[in-house]
Amino acid sequence: MQAQLKTRPEPRSRSQPGGTRERRQAVSVREVSRTYASRDRAGASVQALDGVSLHAAEHEVLAVVGPSGCGKTTLLELICGLQAPDSGSIECAPAALMPQRDLLMPWLSALDNAALALRIAHVRRADARARARELFAELGLAGWEEARPHELSGGMRQRVAFVRTLLAGKDILCLDEPFGALDAITRADMHAWLSDALAQEPRTVVLVTHDVEEAIVLADRVAIMAPRPGRVLSELDVSLPRPRGRTDPRVVALRERALGALGSPHERLAR
Ligand SMILES: Nc1ncnc2c1ncn2[C@@H]1O[C@H](COP(=O)(O)OP(=O)(O)OP(=O)(O)O)[C@@H](O)[C@H]1O
Ligand SMILES: [Mg+2]
Repeated sequence: MQAQLKTRPEPRSRSQPGGTRERRQAVSVREVSRTYASRDRAGASVQALDGVSLHAAEHEVLAVVGPSGCGKTTLLELICGLQAPDSGSIECAPAALMPQRDLLMPWLSALDNAALALRIAHVRRADARARARELFAELGLAGWEEARPHELSGGMRQRVAFVRTLLAGKDILCLDEPFGALDAITRADMHAWLSDALAQEPRTVVLVTHDVEEAIVLADRVAIMAPRPGRVLSELDVSLPRPRGRTDPRVVALRERALGALGSPHERLAR
């Protein structure tokens, strides 16, 4: 079956004349800093982000990679308006967040969890469930519609949360490690599905991931962050045709560049 996000009536073309630079900015993060007042083990407050600037053009897939604790989740929560920056500014249309933890409601079935965003938008239960059911079939969840979250594997729960985020119907998707709990085969299937779906129905995506290869397979551009306090070290343009294979030498070369920008394991652990 052809992958589709199925949240808009009129699919639009992904290709735009003039490329990324002439497209409207959908997400603008300018010189944003964020310090948490709560204390670390040494008794200091924690500066999560230090002067971060990032931009995503309309219908661009921007991946953000960086080591654990560099402020990626904080950045997504700021973009989605769940937190406010201490300084700097953020401009962004309403965005749907897929949180790092799936946050499924334990008392609802998988299908009702997935349909939740539509129910909140006052879509009738039967219609909301029907739309969620279509995506369940596409994402390998058919037969699990009435299971409760505790009956699902971690990877299944993650896909239910992914369906819920897609069905929120927002122009901007903020995905926080969306495929981290999936096995390698299912993850590759999800990459292919998402690439196809975005070709059918483009969205602006801010994709946070630990997986540099995933970033290069899926994104138009990759922002590489430094460890705490989080800063953008560099950005990589990934102007390769889709679909992209992991073993494509161009993908491998970009992955090496990104890993080089992140530094060696010794350097990272010493920071
Ligand atoms: N609510 C909070 N209160 C206090 N400190 C926080 C809070 N949320 C995050 N932090 C701290 O801010 C820093 C950045 O956290 P954040 O969760 O944004 O990192 P991350 O890059 O998403 O990490 P990971 O890859 O492990 O998910 C960390 O040092 C973390 O301990
Ligand atoms: Mg995180």
